[in-house]
This record gives sequence, structure tokens and C-alpha cells, in this order.
Amino acid sequence: MTKTALVTGASRGIGLETVRRFIHNSEDITTIVMFARKSSDFDEAVEELRASSPVGRKIVTRYVDVGDRDSLHENLESVHEEVGNIDILVNNAGYTNPVPLQQAEIDDFEKTMNVNVYAPFLIVKWLLNHGNVFKLIVNIASTAGMNGRSGWLTYSASKAAVINMSQVMREELAIYGTRVVCLSPGRTATALRRTLAPEEDPSTIMQPEHVARVIETFTSPVGRFIDSENVVVRQ
Ligand SMILES: NC(=O)c1ccc[n+]([C@@H]2O[C@H](COP(=O)([O-])OP(=O)(O)OC[C@H]3O[C@@H](n4cnc5c(N)ncnc54)[C@H](OP(=O)(O)O)[C@@H]3O)[C@@H](O)[C@H]2O)c1
Repeated sequence: MTKTALVTGASRGIGLETVRRFIHNSEDITTIVMFARKSSDFDEAVEELRASSPVGRKIVTRYVDVGDRDSLHENLESVHEEVGNIDILVNNAGYTNPVPLQQAEIDDFEKTMNVNVYAPFLIVKWLLNHGNVFKLIVNIASTAGMNGRSGWLTYSASKAAVINMSQVMREELAIYGTRVVCLSPGRTATALRRTLAPEEDPSTIMQPEHVARVIETFTSPVGRFIDSENVVVRQ
């Protein structure tokens, strides 16, 4: 049976590589919805994916700031109308602004929570409330959510919440046949990682396609045998 996947934060990094794996390697994911804010990077990535997609794949895009609740709901409504049921959801969009505790602003903490925690919750809730039946939800947390890191208070706290929220989703949605997987990557060479560790040589750490391959495995026939509340992927 063909499936539809929605990936947030699909303009670059882990999200874009996940979409690429779905398009080129999945036999049954035929419709892919990509969420990110409007940017030339996003447009170029979509253009490149459309040009290289195998026949029969449909790519649907929406410019959406997942931290803006009205915009998020409007876009979910229009996407649900266009593609119908979302079978696979990858809550991947993430934001961080690492600063020492004394400099952390509450507005920025709220933004971090809006993007990293409330958006995944709102997407799942809105779709459930509109009759959606998920087969698989993958929430991208972080190893920083398992152990708090100096200078990363807002990010670490938000990712800890993602790990815990995923456990609740997993328990509550099991009766609908929905698998919920929380995935915590370690350091991965992306723009977000550069913000967290500007001095690091990106060639020495995990690449986004490595994480994307693990996500793809969850969607494959063997994926159902991976039963963990928090799958850690790190070097
Ligand atoms: N890289 C690592 O070392 C690492 C480790 C652990 C966990 N993670 C997690 O992995 C996920 C993906 O991050 P990445 O490392 O691939 O970073 P990235 O390359 O910087 O990508 C982040 C993605 O999130 C999107 N995003 C950020 N704010 C958004 C907003 N308000 N609305 C919509 N989209 C938004 C960005 O899209 P636009 O800016 O184009 O809208 C972009 O597509 C995040 O949840 C991150 O916390 C990363």
C-alpha cells in the first residue's frame, strides 16, 4: 500500500536528507510533504529533488514557520485537504540559540519550546483531531536532551521534553496501531550543529545522511522490530 510522509525542517540537514532517502529508496512512500520556512535554499532543494525523483513520486511543499500556531494550523488544513491521511510523520524542525544561563532570554526560551516541543505536539494533535491515523511518528530529540549541556539550557530542556512527550505519545497511540519512535542523534554536521559548536571540523562527525538512513530504516519492513523509547544514533 502506498504511504504519505510529512517531514518538518525539510529545507536542509537531517530533514532534507530524510526526504531524499524516502524519495529514492522507499518503495511505498509515494507522497512526501515538506515543511520549512520560505528560503532560496528550500526552493533550490525542492527543485533538485523534483528533477531527480523517480516517476510516480509526488512532492508537496509548504512554507511554514512551525513556531507560528496559526500558520501551522492553516498549512496542516490545506495539506490534509490535498494529500489526505499522513501515514508517517517526522517531527524534525529544530531551533537553538546557545547562551550562558544568565543571558538566556525568556522570549528565546519560548521560541525554542514553540519550535522543538509545541510544534510536534500541535501537528500530532491537529491531525488526530481531524481523523488522521498515523502508522509511524518519529520525533527528533537529541543526546542533549538526555544529559543537560553547559550553555545549552533552553535546547537541552526542550529536547528532554521531546523524549518524555514521545513516551506519552507512544503509550497513548499504541491502541491505534501507531508506532512512536524518539530518535536522539549525537553531533551531526549541519547548520544547527555549527551554531552549537562553531569550532568543530564537520568532516570529523556524523553526516546528516547517516541519521536519515536510520529514519528510513524505521519506515522499512524491519523498522517495526525496532522497539525503543529513545533510539540513540551517535559516533
Ligand atoms: N545536528 C546535530 O548535531 C543534531 C543533534 C541532535 C539533534 N538534532 C536535531 O535534528 C533536527 C534537525 O536539525 P539539523 O541538525 O538537521 O539542523 P539544520 O540543518 O539547521 O536544519 C534545521 C531545520 O529546521 C527547520 N526549522 C528551524 N526553525 C524552524 C521554524 N521556526 N519553522 C520551520 N522550520 C524550522 C529549518 O528550516 P528553515 O530554517 O529553512 O525554515 C531546517 O530545515 C533538529 O530537531 C535538531 O535539534 C541535531
